[in-house]
Formats: sequence, C-alpha cells, structure tokens
Amino acid sequence: MTTAVMDEIHVIPSGKALGADIENVDLSNLESDQAIKKIMSSWHEHLVLRFRAQNLTDGEYVKFGRLFGELDLPFTSARGNPRRPEYPEMAVMSNIVENGKPIGGLGNFEAAWHTDMSYMDVPPSASILYAIEIPPVGGNTWFANMYAAYEALPNGLKQKIEGLTCKHDYSYNSTGELRKGFSEVTDPRTSPGAVHPIVCTHPETKKKCLFLGRRLNGYIPGMELAESEALLDDLWAHCTKPEFTWTQNWKVGDVIVWDNRCTIHYRESFDNNTRRLLNRLQVKGAKPY
Ligand code: OGA
Ligand code: MN
Repeated sequence: MTTAVMDEIHVIPSGKALGADIENVDLSNLESDQAIKKIMSSWHEHLVLRFRAQNLTDGEYVKFGRLFGELDLPFTSARGNPRRPEYPEMAVMSNIVENGKPIGGLGNFEAAWHTDMSYMDVPPSASILYAIEIPPVGGNTWFANMYAAYEALPNGLKQKIEGLTCKHDYSYNSTGELRKGFSEVTDPRTSPGAVHPIVCTHPETKKKCLFLGRRLNGYIPGMELAESEALLDDLWAHCTKPEFTWTQNWKVGDVIVWDNRCTIHYRESFDNNTRRLLNRLQVKGAKPY
C-alpha cells in the first residue's frame, strides 16, 4: 500500500440528519494537513464527527482538541468537577464516586436537550468527548441538526420568530440540578442568563440555524410569559423531532466532536451501578449573531 492510500481518511455519513464516522485515522498521530482539512470540512457538513477505536494519552487528546480552536477552561459543574492539574482544559463526565466525591459532571441522570453553556454571552463553538468507560446499557447521546430544524419550520413560525431573541437560563444544568450559588427560578422572566437571537448565522458556514439553548426557564424578552412559553414549546416540539436527530451509541475509544452552534444534544440516563467515564474538552467560541 502506498503512503497516499494509507493517508486517505474515509468519511461515512450516518445517513441521518447529521453525524459521520471518520475512518482510517489515528488521532494520536494526525500530521497530514490534507487529512486535517478533510476533517474540518466534514465537520461543517455533518456537524457531529465520530472517530472510533482511538487510544489517546491526555496530551494527544488535548492536542487533537486544539485543531478546532483555543480550548476553554471547563466551567465548574453543579457537583464541582475536579480539574486535572496537568490538563486544566480537560473535564470529566462521569457517575463514578471516589472517596465519597463524584469525579465528574452530570452523574447518571438524564440530561435534557441543550446547547452547551449558551447561558453565557460567548458559548463554546465545539465540545468533544472521549469514551474511557461506557455502561452496557443506556447513556447514549442524541444530537439534533438545528439548520435542518430551522429550514423545515412552517412558514408562519419562521416569520413569527424573525428578529426575536431568547434568554437562556443559567441557574440549572441539563440534568435539572441547581448550580452552586444560584437561586431557584420562580419566574423565567427574571432569571439570570445571556440573551441571543433565536435564529443565528453560523460564523463559518454562514447558514441560519435555530439557537434555543435549553427549554427550562427559557424566555423571549418583550413577550407576555404565557405567549413566550407557548412559542418556545412549539419550537422545541419541532426541533427535537426524530427526523432532525442521530443517536451516538457509545463504545470505549469513541471520540465525538460536535458543533455547539448548530446542534443540540440529549443524554439518556443509565444504571448508577454501572460506570461511565468520558474526558471532555470544549473550544472557545464567539458571540452568537
Ligand atoms: C456534555 C454533555 C453528554 C454525555 O458533555 O456537554 O452534555 O453524553 N454530555 O455525557
Ligand atoms: Mn452538554
């Protein structure tokens, strides 16, 4: 086999609304500019990329993550994720408890559909997970394509949301846990969080997508609360329809990269007597517009 053939990476689309496997690539040794270019263009086309059967040191994983941009420091979760002193950019998603302390975020709970950290003015552009331990059942992660959801909106709804913004509540994480230092929300109109346009333009592809964050305590400024609730319910019912989704059924060694600007994700719960551990990176983004 010639070097040129060995270098060739394969892109296998999931056949669903988003997601592709990138095959014939070892992320611990990704030197070819051509391969990196192909990964980036596939990412913009398929929004979520999966690289199976990887075997990476922490350093190799962090180096791979930096291909997507400058890495963000992880936000301290409701459970107070410990950071790794050598790799402060790396966070842990896990239900494992050691010495009475959770070693990572989200536990074994179901995580509602969300975009990562859209309650900040500048949310991450990408998030990356690398599967170290995976339970035999459950804990799969679903993704939805928010370009496709936007394009398929009924005309009336499309017109209704033109120029509108939404406030993305900061108070709770995706499993519904109140973050440390926040108060329970009794009125979505007054809860803390960033305000972003409901329809955003992706800074790289220049395509329009829905940008909704998460349903819990979302609020459309300027509307009566009941009107805002009804419109958000309609938008959420639409964008989470099966035709816009693809499900990642995890295997140990999987690396998944998602575009946080034009996708949302949901995680199934799993049995807390089983173990799940993934290393997580996120990439600094820009203010949505
Ligand atoms: C995340 C997240 C889902 C999962 O890391 O942002 O939502 O599958 N994780 O653990
Ligand atoms: Mn998330």
